[in-house]
Amino acid sequence: MSNAQSTSPVSRTMRVDVYERWWLWIASSLILGFLAIIVASSVLHAVHPPSHVETIDPATARTESEFASPGVFPQPDGSTLVVMVAAMFTFDPETVVVPVGEPVRFRITSPDVIHGFQIAGTNANVTVIPGYVSEFEVTFPRAGEYLVLCNEFCGLSHHMMQGRFIARSAREEDP
Ligand code: CUA
Repeated sequence: MSNAQSTSPVSRTMRVDVYERWWLWIASSLILGFLAIIVASSVLHAVHPPSHVETIDPATARTESEFASPGVFPQPDGSTLVVMVAAMFTFDPETVVVPVGEPVRFRITSPDVIHGFQIAGTNANVTVIPGYVSEFEVTFPRAGEYLVLCNEFCGLSHHMMQGRFIARSAREEDP
């Protein structure tokens, strides 16, 4: 009796070992899983790279721009704008009062070196680069205090560089 496999022309299907097939499935699932995590964090938690590119002269930023007098500025449309400077080794202003549950727009720059700006408990986490203005929006989910940290090593007192945000409802602001 002749063997069908040995007499047939070259097989058109590649033979893949069963273990190799498992690994193909596992590796493909891992890649798809990681992609799904990226998509989910970007859609559900608004974690994404900043799309805003705006340059500024770091030498004159503190004297000849909006960053000469940073602070909290209520806008005509009812929203809030926070203008901040991250410099060795403080945030200016250091303590900021913002409304809770409403989007707050930030504009930050640095006159010296690269700093980080992370508000613990929110998705705000940007790199502040001299020569650029970082702009983004944050909604403070609950009333209370938020710690702001510099998370880029910026010099000897990097670990001392921190600020404070106090989120409160609009009613509490006018006692
Ligand atoms: Cu600023 Cu570390």
